[in-house]
Amino acid sequence: MKTALITGVTGQDGSYLADLLLEKEYSIVGLHRRSSTNNFQRIQHLLDHPNFKLEEFDLTDPYGCNRIIGQYHPDEFYNLGAQSHVQTSFKQPTTTFEINAVGVINILESIRNLSPSTRFYQASTSEMFGRNYVTKNGEKYQDEDTTMLPQSPYGVAKLASHHMVQIYRSGYNMFACSGILFNHESPRRGENFVTRKITKYIGQLIKGKTKEKLQLGNLDAHRDWGHAKDYVKAMWLMLQQSEPQDYVIATGQTHSVEEFLDLAFKSVNLEAKNHVNINSNLFRPAEVDYLKGDPTKAKKQLGWSNQTSFTALIEDMIQSDINNA
Ligand code: NAP
Ligand code: GDD
Repeated sequence: MKTALITGVTGQDGSYLADLLLEKEYSIVGLHRRSSTNNFQRIQHLLDHPNFKLEEFDLTDPYGCNRIIGQYHPDEFYNLGAQSHVQTSFKQPTTTFEINAVGVINILESIRNLSPSTRFYQASTSEMFGRNYVTKNGEKYQDEDTTMLPQSPYGVAKLASHHMVQIYRSGYNMFACSGILFNHESPRRGENFVTRKITKYIGQLIKGKTKEKLQLGNLDAHRDWGHAKDYVKAMWLMLQQSEPQDYVIATGQTHSVEEFLDLAFKSVNLEAKNHVNINSNLFRPAEVDYLKGDPTKAKKQLGWSNQTSFTALIEDMIQSDINNA
């Protein structure tokens, strides 16, 4: 039985990845940071699973990294833990850098010193591309070779760790991969990301739980949105290859925030313009305007492709939030 360690197991992706690896009969150690209130909503259904256990851990603690890696010598280590909110990274740049960049070095060093055969996955991100894209046949997109010009403290920290992964791979021959994942959402998405903020609001509106208008920021930004359940499969596939490499994971389609908003309201026969206020406080000091990934490499080498359409994603999230409300 293979052992996998997952940081960020209480988050969206960590919980779906734990589901997937348990189906594949892995033994999972979920790493979570101590909090004063219970934070296990997304993994509640796993807590009694015989192949799932939790360990307290924080990415910013190098001794804790040594302790955990030295104790388990895992076959695979998935680093999904992060301060993952871009807007927050402008307010907490140092904390974001400590967790998202220094935290990754902590793990890479522990693996190098104590368990060099462990295969490592790093949660890199399309936010690293920032404002940059390339144009081919009139199409704007980003792929593995596109120059990265991040526009947020979050993006800068993720780019630092992305380069670190490449250095540990080439310098120390470690099996370390970065998945450059474009936005992915689900019913388990954090409530302050724009898609979930919208679908949660719609659920509450329909059930008569709110009379307030929904406050949103920039509706013009474009994102390449997929479903988290599909994307965790790509993470696993990367660590099953004969060579460690980096891969873009995306749907290859892009939509504006406004399109998501309009479609979400239309799907329940409502008009967004009657329920939304634009709030300038929610605009970011710097914005990533356009993301559209080219997942050709992942398709060719991993056999991975997106399985959930944009409308099916919205439908899944709205149905879940109507039930929640
Ligand atoms: P998420 O729901 O915000 O989950 C983040 C996880 O990181 C949570 O479990 C959180 O724990 C944990 N964490 C935060 N600080 C930590 C620390 N100091 N030590 C240990 N754990 C810590 O994020 P997600 O959407 O699942 O994303 C997973 C990863 O993929 C993140 O690294 C994110 O940056 C990256 N990513 C996400 C997307 C996307 O669209 N979802 C796209 C590209 C890359 P608490 O529960 O205690 O807060
Ligand atoms: N969060 C939020 N809240 N975003 C809003 C709002 C709002 O009220 N109104 C408009 N937006 C716009 C943001 O300005 C941004 O252009 C877009 O909606 C998406 O914002 P988020 O959902 O917060 O996601 P993100 O693209 O900034 O970051 C997510 O995707 C990255 C991958 O590209 C996060 O999951 C990151 O962790 C991930 O790396």
